[in-house]
Amino acid sequence: MLFETLKPLVINLLSDSQTSVTDRLQQVCDLLKERIAYYDWVGFYFKNGDKKELILKTYAGDTTDHTVIPFGKGICGQVALSNENFVVPDVQAQDNYISCSINVKSEIVIPLFKDGENIGQIDIDSNTPDPFSEDDERFLEFVNQEVARIL
Ligand code: SME
Repeated sequence: MLFETLKPLVINLLSDSQTSVTDRLQQVCDLLKERIAYYDWVGFYFKNGDKKELILKTYAGDTTDHTVIPFGKGICGQVALSNENFVVPDVQAQDNYISCSINVKSEIVIPLFKDGENIGQIDIDSNTPDPFSEDDERFLEFVNQEVARIL
């Protein structure tokens, strides 16, 4: 299955210590966007020091205006506070949602923990309605765990 095929590729990209952490994260974004048909935008946001905001670090997909997201705002800002996965089958049904593109139909945001602390997240936008399953959640949790190892 696709996710099982991608796991060793993710490990391989992240283990390349000759490459900067930012470039490795960029390669993971590129890989996931390229290989998973319904992943149309893939990005990593991280907490900005002691400030109550997220900063976009790397992404694959269309340029977004939302490079800084205050805690509590949008799906991403809510995950910064809740520490829980947030799967959105239909973004139009969400009141607290920040739209990046009119093409986006659904979103999944998975928090990234380092030493038990929620320090960021992976965010996927999809142009397909309701495409995400528990397999996506498990896979993206795996990706975040692997990323945490190199931070
Ligand atoms: N839709 C997100 C904002 C980030 S973009 O998807 C790139 C949100 O509501 O937090």
